[in-house]
Amino acid sequence: MMSAKITVVGAGNVGAAAAFVASQKGLGDVVLLDIVEGLAEGKALDMAQAKAVYPAAGQVTGTRNWAETADSDVVIITSGLARRPGMSRDDLLAKNAQIVKSVTEQIVRTSPKAFIIVVSNPLDVMTYVAAKVSGFDKQRVMGMAGVLDSARFTCFIAEELGVYVGDVSGVLMGGHGDDMVPLPRYTTVAGIPLTELMAPEKIDALVERTRKGGIEIVNLLGTSAYYAPAAGAVTMAEAILKNTRRIMSCCVYCDGSYGIRGDYVGVPAMLGKNGVEKIIELALNKTEQAMFEASAAHVRALTRKVDTMLD
Ligand code: 2OP
Repeated sequence: MMSAKITVVGAGNVGAAAAFVASQKGLGDVVLLDIVEGLAEGKALDMAQAKAVYPAAGQVTGTRNWAETADSDVVIITSGLARRPGMSRDDLLAKNAQIVKSVTEQIVRTSPKAFIIVVSNPLDVMTYVAAKVSGFDKQRVMGMAGVLDSARFTCFIAEELGVYVGDVSGVLMGGHGDDMVPLPRYTTVAGIPLTELMAPEKIDALVERTRKGGIEIVNLLGTSAYYAPAAGAVTMAEAILKNTRRIMSCCVYCDGSYGIRGDYVGVPAMLGKNGVEKIIELALNKTEQAMFEASAAHVRALTRKVDTMLD
């Protein structure tokens, strides 16, 4: 099979980390693109040299020129402003909508068959922007947030129980905001329900920490997280490119699932060679469904707002 081509747009913290993970995993040829002169070229050159230490298949290159991204199989959009202390993800709406719009127009021109994975914030709305502007098949456009948010939940649970992190499967859905919906009832540790292993108050504390997981890092670093977001985006790309059919929480187009019609919001989805292969509908109890609806309503309100900015 021909080597896959993965373009990462934006060579800031998230983009560079994503390109590095994809390159070290040998997922294919990686192209890192940024408008800042020298930034993508310099970071990619460094990554190419890292491959001489930890060898993996594929080339990694940096560029300012969209022509070099031509015919990518997957494009990961990380462009946009990141959160600073005191900012919510929603504060980034207007600026990042214009940036994601113009990036998407370039993708349509250069890689009309690509799958798009959006990482820019506010995530669910930026995914909608990329979908609307590209006009691509809805299965081919998705956003990375649920993988990150569930990874945080998973990480906190593994630390608390002192178990192997790979045995923990934290389940979470909803928009990428403080009203995201962690689902302890569906979360397992080596197949054992979390609720069998941890006291309810402890679970509540970890749910709360997960909801505020992004801001915890912003407050420490002065800018937002990048290693886990990058790993999240690359694992989605891998599921598509290798047709792994893994199920993970992703921001995808919902047409009736969970009562959502026509919005992009985080739900458990199976990813494979066609992109979003399937949405998994969990039976939510009343409380969970209400939390999900509140989160989805927040996303919908922002989506309507961004709509007026795109025309
Ligand atoms: C986060 O949750 C940046 O929104 C991202 O860390």
